[in-house]
Amino acid sequence: MSKRKPFIAGNWKMYKTCPEAVETAKKLVRILHGIDHVDVMIAPSFTALASVYEVIKDSSVMIGAQNLFWEKEGAYTGEISPGMIVSSGCRYVIIGHSERRQYFGETDLSVNKKIRAAIKNSLAPVFCIGETEKERDAEDTFNILDKQIKMGLEGFSPDDLQHMILAYEPVWAIGTGKTATSVQAQEVHRFLRNLIENLFGKRIAGSIRILYGGSVKPENIGELMSMPDIDGALVGGASLDAEKFAGIINFKI
Ligand code: 13P
Repeated sequence: MSKRKPFIAGNWKMYKTCPEAVETAKKLVRILHGIDHVDVMIAPSFTALASVYEVIKDSSVMIGAQNLFWEKEGAYTGEISPGMIVSSGCRYVIIGHSERRQYFGETDLSVNKKIRAAIKNSLAPVFCIGETEKERDAEDTFNILDKQIKMGLEGFSPDDLQHMILAYEPVWAIGTGKTATSVQAQEVHRFLRNLIENLFGKRIAGSIRILYGGSVKPENIGELMSMPDIDGALVGGASLDAEKFAGIINFKI
């Protein structure tokens, strides 16, 4: 069991219209009333953020965005600035999700710029990293993660990372029903915490929350959360249903 306060986030990806997102958020707020042993965040699509914020603003549920563009404003058709995200009520922003790396050309360099922009605007980044199946089979997992962390966080100070959350999402476990075993995930989380300690010192390594993501469900969360370096989860599919997501949040070890 981790020493840090658990953080469980729902990444709603490109699911739910605005009314659907509002409906699920209302249910979640009702079910989670009074919860304070876990930090809970949901990340609806951009178009639903402001409406969902109205639903969650007096509750313990927080919201985040799924991406941002680093410029303050300008002629960047289709992009969303950090200020726009903050003004929609967000405190968090997911950055570098593998689906963005895979389908939208995100690189470690663009991820670095996005993390910088988030921090500058007081948004806590949920920085996603993870290896593909091919990379794992080639026993390249630790090299890949080392590179993603070093490039993604290049030029930051320990203070910059105070509110950052790290999310380890093995690409082969996302949406596939294949979860990393708790032992496999713990091994990687330990590696990541050691790496953070080498780069940024003991204080940040001790306080940073490292989430696991990839086919998390009510049935496997307890076992994952029993590990000392797993501080929470980034949940996709199972976060779309309020009751199922609450079943994850109310995990028992
Ligand atoms: P699933 O929980 O659907 O596997 O998705 C994980 C994920 O990508 C969360 O960001």
